[in-house]
Amino acid sequence: MRLQSRRMGTTLAAQKTKDAMRRDGALGEGQIMSYAIVWASKGGNTAKVGEELARSLAAAGAELAYAGALPSAGAPEEAQVLAADTVLAGSWTDKGDCDPALAELLAKLDGKRVFLFGTAGFGGDPAYFERILGNFKKHLPAGAELLGGAMCQGKMGAGIRRRYEAMLAENPEDARAQAMIANFDAALAHPTDDDLAQIVTAAREALGL
Ligand SMILES: Cc1cc2nc3c(=O)[nH]c(=O)nc-3n(C[C@H](O)[C@H](O)[C@H](O)COP(=O)(O)O)c2cc1C
Repeated sequence: MRLQSRRMGTTLAAQKTKDAMRRDGALGEGQIMSYAIVWASKGGNTAKVGEELARSLAAAGAELAYAGALPSAGAPEEAQVLAADTVLAGSWTDKGDCDPALAELLAKLDGKRVFLFGTAGFGGDPAYFERILGNFKKHLPAGAELLGGAMCQGKMGAGIRRRYEAMLAENPEDARAQAMIANFDAALAHPTDDDLAQIVTAAREALGL
């Protein structure tokens, strides 16, 4: 099974260029657009995506005000994130939504251009990623401009497989447990280089970089 990262639909992908922001008065003449990339990652999958985004944006000449793990609320690094014009915010999937700490940051992004990214244990169904990104989006204030989003599958901890194995030991015919184990094993390779490249491409297109 080939699992792909997935961009959000065009309904969520309104592009606004630097020129358009100048016209709107959001950026002054001669002012350079600044970017922040921030992620919540427990096991390293989403951090890998965030680091790749940071590398790619820096290579494209973007000014990065911050690139790193989600700072604590009120920390100086949070102020760096909130000073950027455009924020790329990523999270692992926690029960269908983003990390609650990232949700708190998203709520502070009024007036920002935002690109959402993430990783999830379940892959293979683009509609699933879109639903999760839709849940992340709900934490944004009305004044944030969502440029787009992209997700890919990410490996899960060994404890999760053991849980499915226990279900299967109790009932070897349990088709759901079998499917969960197959998905767990498929996830072990993710994020792949292909996943990273697709998310980077989606972000650069959405950001006009
Ligand atoms: C407590 C917990 C809840 C999770 N909930 C979901 C979920 O609802 N949907 C999903 O697809 N993956 C879920 N996962 C899997 C992780 O989101 C996935 O492995 C992700 O890639 C982890 O990213 P990280 O390495 O950046 O922490 C969950 C994992 C844990 C530990």
